[in-house]
Amino acid sequence: MDQPQHGRYRKPLASKFTARRMRLLTERIERITVDHLDAMEKAGPPTDLVTAFARPIPAVMICELLGVPYQDRGSFQENVESFMSGETSDEDLIAAVTATYDYLTALVAAKRTHPTDDVLSELTDTDLTDDELRGMALVLLAAGLDTTANMLALGTFALLRHPEQLAALRADPALTDHAIEELLRYLSVAKTFMRAALEDVELAGRTIEAGQVVVASFHTANRDPERFTDPHALDLHRRVDGHLAFGHGAHLCLGAQLARVEMRVAFPALINRFPTLRLAVPAEEVALRPETADIYGVKSLPITWDV
Ligand code: HEM
Repeated sequence: MDQPQHGRYRKPLASKFTARRMRLLTERIERITVDHLDAMEKAGPPTDLVTAFARPIPAVMICELLGVPYQDRGSFQENVESFMSGETSDEDLIAAVTATYDYLTALVAAKRTHPTDDVLSELTDTDLTDDELRGMALVLLAAGLDTTANMLALGTFALLRHPEQLAALRADPALTDHAIEELLRYLSVAKTFMRAALEDVELAGRTIEAGQVVVASFHTANRDPERFTDPHALDLHRRVDGHLAFGHGAHLCLGAQLARVEMRVAFPALINRFPTLRLAVPAEEVALRPETADIYGVKSLPITWDV
């Protein structure tokens, strides 16, 4: 989407990611993280990190941003998971998308009549129509949930496969910010995006004609040997300024700061709570998502620890 429509949606949304809201959300992320770690500890090993930890944290965050009431969250999240997995049958996919659409239609109506302290309620105070608000809620869901969930799960998988890097991160909490940027680069969970050329463009000696669609691979750019030395290596000490995991330019990820806060809280809390954290199955048996999924990820991540 280009200007002016893009600005019509991006501007009001961007203005809702205020310092106050980020502070409140950070407190909530800390609380939710501790609650989920407590539950994992209580239930004992082994467990699936995706369902126990990696998915619920961003899911709760998106529900809080949208103001999804607590009692609706279970079925709401199930429907969303089913249309993000890349493996749902057409019939189930249509059912899940329809249920989510219907739910969001009712949610927008509820926020108009009974606004609460959330982004969706605040957006009802603009000239955006109900249909547009529902569309924006869907964008937030699609953009914010699966991406962060897979960063947490795949990020943990990557750390467990590089024990020396994991040990360095445990030993030096000051490394956390670097580590997160390197994991973002290395994993590039949002793999590719499409763009249509508005006019003829010359790129790397080729002409892309107006109207042609190109697939831009953030993943490949983030592994460019001319940009990053030894690009296929995970190196938490590396300086990774300018990676493209959150995109670039006019469509740069609006939730990047929120995603970073989620990871800054969740990764250290997890690895410090379970000093003996390890995979519960051989790494080759961890099931990765199929290529058809838009977002790179693991289906489940069986983990265990000493009690
Ligand atoms: C680690 C987690 C995340 C990753 C890797 C990620 C990645 C991306 C990327 C690559 C884009 C650019 C897409 C393009 O150029 O077409 C994008 C856009 C976007 N992201 Fe994220 N994202 C993450 C988390 C979030 C979160 C938590 C939210 C919101 C709560 C969010 C909201 C958005 C929105 C609204 C856009 C569209 C911006 C626009 O088109 O103007 N993202 N994200």
